[in-house]
Amino acid sequence: MARRRQIYEGKAKVLFEGPEPGTLVQYFKDDATAFNNKKKGTITGKGVLNNRISEYLMLRLQEIGISTHFVRRLNMREQLVREVEIVPIEVVVRNVAAGSLSQRFNIPEGTPLPRSVVEYYYKNDELNDPLVSEEHITAFGWATIQEIDEILNLSLRVNDFMSGLFLGIGIRLVDFKIEFGRLYHDSGDVQLVLADELSPDNCRLWDMKTNEKMDKDRFRRDLGNVEEAYQEVARRLGILPEGGPRDMKGPSTMQ
Ligand code: TMP
Ligand code: ASP
Repeated sequence: MARRRQIYEGKAKVLFEGPEPGTLVQYFKDDATAFNNKKKGTITGKGVLNNRISEYLMLRLQEIGISTHFVRRLNMREQLVREVEIVPIEVVVRNVAAGSLSQRFNIPEGTPLPRSVVEYYYKNDELNDPLVSEEHITAFGWATIQEIDEILNLSLRVNDFMSGLFLGIGIRLVDFKIEFGRLYHDSGDVQLVLADELSPDNCRLWDMKTNEKMDKDRFRRDLGNVEEAYQEVARRLGILPEGGPRDMKGPSTMQ
């Protein structure tokens, strides 16, 4: 494998310098963490599945006119993406009460919300990604008022589209987290695009019939069958790697 400069290593992904200026290679690891790194583990084959699932969802979103950082999948664990400046905000969209919302307001998990709820968290591990308001975001300069307006609009479109897409395969999109990046064009234009990843690592996906969890909560809450749940999401999306799960333990990079 050619030697490449590593730009950044996160909990679930590594970013390398891309083959041409303005691009990066996003490598998906099998590592899983939860509760800000307090819980650590490995989900065998997760990187391969998330690479595919994120590719699939980003491409579908591009088809309805939502710009993303995704360029193309390179191999089992890597995808080529545009280099962007990440807006340091995690946007969470919720349709059904679960997780921290259920805890904060004492609402039983599974209660449908009267309307979709959008929350912003400041991306800062030392502070434990605190919940913030639009006022904090604009006052501290993490994003402009115009950017946050656009982020809200895009996030709701992503939610509507993905809710429908998952409904079609018998899965309820309970909530999800997304991130945005600024793409600097040569013309001087700055464009907000969907970045990071879209996968069962950052969505809550429940089977419509059984309410069974098909996402990272299986890891967070020690529910077992984590690999199988991610595989089932890929299978229903019609993108399980050829050869099935066997393929996923193969070489981590292929040239
Ligand atoms: P929460 O209920 O724990 O706030 O999570 C809401 C959604 O955001 C859920 O789909 C999981 C996702 N999420 C992340 O992707 N990264 C995180 O660090 C956290 C806390 C949640
Ligand atoms: N990925 C986050 C962490 O490692 C939290 C989570 O997804 O639960 O802290």
